[in-house]
Amino acid sequence: MWTYPKIIAHRGGGVLAPENTLAAFRCGAAHGFRAVEFDVMLAKDGVPVVMHDPALGRTVSGAGGVADYTSHALMQMDAGAWFGHAFAGECVPTYEQVVAFCVDNGIWMNVEIKPVSGFEEATGRVVAQYTKRLFADVLARDVADPARAGLPLFSSFSYEAVQAAQRAAPDIPRALLLDRIPADWRSKLDALGAVAIDTSYRNLTEAQARAIKDAGFGLFCYTVNEPDRARELFGWGVDAICTDRIDLIGPRFG
Ligand code: G3P
Ligand code: MG
Repeated sequence: MWTYPKIIAHRGGGVLAPENTLAAFRCGAAHGFRAVEFDVMLAKDGVPVVMHDPALGRTVSGAGGVADYTSHALMQMDAGAWFGHAFAGECVPTYEQVVAFCVDNGIWMNVEIKPVSGFEEATGRVVAQYTKRLFADVLARDVADPARAGLPLFSSFSYEAVQAAQRAAPDIPRALLLDRIPADWRSKLDALGAVAIDTSYRNLTEAQARAIKDAGFGLFCYTVNEPDRARELFGWGVDAICTDRIDLIGPRFG
């Protein structure tokens, strides 16, 4: 059963702040959000950083990709100016910095493991190892309810990355990200020991939603920006959504 929050701020602060920056997480928190989604990949030195695109150019100016730069170099790079002058100087945060912010502010995390191509296993494994270390005190307790304990939920479009996270940190819950629900979704979840599916609301049908819920799995949808659509999905039994429109769909929506 889904005991996590119902409304999740996508990439920290949705459309109100530069995605995946500490400014975005502050913005989400200022709007009352206690749940965030963000994207994690590995820098050249193997340190997980919070970025969506594997290539520089859109949110961070420069050439090449995240895997070409050390985390130290990325942490000096401006990830806020593209969004607006007021955010100039907001840099690429490390995973560890974002976790610290969220823990300090009581914010639950849906950690999307987003590997640079070719680094699927390494990214799943390293993010899981970091998380295991950062939540060692929680994991040392008997965690009957991971949501209440504040453990993050991993998710990834990469089956291999989820599998690597499962091996490295079996006690940290996992979800599989699926653009469309495949016929063999149940066997995939079972093989990964996954507790939930995160899927595009655009492709989900009511029958699929009900089948997933009837089978006892969590179901959440990305990225829902229209309140009417969100209401319809909740009517189908969907447990949670992430949204960019944190101004329209607030933390207490529904
Ligand atoms: O985690 C759900 C959603 O964020 C997946 O899509 O491209 O926004 O990371 P994307
Ligand atoms: Mg994402």
